[in-house]
This record gives sequence, C-alpha cells and structure tokens, in this order.
Amino acid sequence: MNLLPRTAEEFSSAEYWERFFKKRGEKAFEWYGDYNKLCGVLHKYIKVQDKVLVVGCGNSELSEQMYDVGYKRLTNIDISETVVTHMNQRNAERRPGLTFQQVDATQTPYEEASYQAALDKGTLDAVASEEEGALARSMLTEVGEQWASGCAVHGPYVSLTCAAGQRDRLALQLRRGAAAAGGQR
Ligand SMILES: C[S@@+](CC[C@H](N)C(=O)[O-])C[C@H]1O[C@@H](n2cnc3c(N)ncnc32)[C@H](O)[C@@H]1O
Repeated sequence: MNLLPRTAEEFSSAEYWERFFKKRGEKAFEWYGDYNKLCGVLHKYIKVQDKVLVVGCGNSELSEQMYDVGYKRLTNIDISETVVTHMNQRNAERRPGLTFQQVDATQTPYEEASYQAALDKGTLDAVASEEEGALARSMLTEVGEQWASGCAVHGPYVSLTCAAGQRDRLALQLRRGAAAAGGQR
C-alpha cells in the first residue's frame, strides 16, 4: 500500500490526508513517538489541568494516552473527516469528553485564548511543505502563542517537527510583527 505523497506540495493538501486515512484504515500511524517517548517534554510544558488544542491529531494514540494519565481537557482537530469519525468512534465510550473535530488548523472557529496550550506532532511538517509557506504562517498565526490578536491558544505551542528551522524562522517573523504592531511579544 503506497501512502507516500507524489510531490512535497501534496503533503500539505486536505485531499492527500483524506486519501491517506481512507487507505490506512483503522491502523494507527504514529509520527515521532507516543506518550512513553514524549512524556518528559509534554509534562514540562503542558499542565495536566490545561485546556489543550491538539492540532492535526491523525490517528495517533498520544491524546488517548495523555487522557489516561490525567489530561482530560484535550480538543483534537484534524482536516480529515475520515480520521475524525474514526477517532470519535474509537473513544466515545471509553473516554468521555475526549473530542475530535474536523477543523482546518489554518482557519479555526475558536475564540481568542480558548486554549492554554497547543500540541502539534508532525502537523507543521505537513502544512509547511506548501511551497510559499502561507499555510504554515496561517496555522501558527491562528493557533500560535499570542503572535497575533485572535489566537486560539494563549500559552505554549509544543511543536514536535522535522521542520524546526522553518518553524523558528516563521515564529521569529511573527513575534517581530506582533512587537511592531504593539502586540504582546
Ligand atoms: C504527519 S501527520 C501527524 C499525525 C499525528 N499528529 C501523529 O503524530 O501521528 C499530519 C496530520 O495533520 C493533519 N493535517 C494536515 N493539514 C491540516 C490542517 N490544515 N488542519 C488540520 N489538520 C491537518 C493530517 O490530516 C494528519 O493527520
């Protein structure tokens, strides 16, 4: 089963991810590691009582594992309807309150400061493969840590990514933009 995108650009498209999860079926695909591997960094930046927006959750087991150790205020979003439906079915009975919503992280419906932390494992990698960088910029502006007014998250943006260079450059630009506009950072 070939799940690889044909081009780098395709990796950022909603159609690609819908196809990916349709082909993948119910088998989890875990990018970069699960709770056992990442618990050190997660507990360092995200408090158990925080309201957390998990951006591009896919069918990772991480949110379920976090819920089971006490993180009960997780909202999971993903652009793929298939994966969101599957994750809701998988958790409806066993994990009340663990929600999965089909939301595009580059244009969310959430009000400013609705969340106290963002968790992004591999999603920036997907979004940042769009050539102009506009999607990555929109996602960081939308859910980032107070880089722009209207940000859904006021708090740490925990990002596990191979696109760290690109993320840091964008974050710096956004911070400078916010500072120039008299913003918070
Ligand atoms: C590399 S996978 C990571 C999945 C999961 N976080 C993990 O660690 O296994 C990228 C995820 O981002 C989702 N995604 C891509 N673009 C998105 C967007 N604009 N908004 C929300 N989710 C998006 C994909 O559907 C996919 O589930």
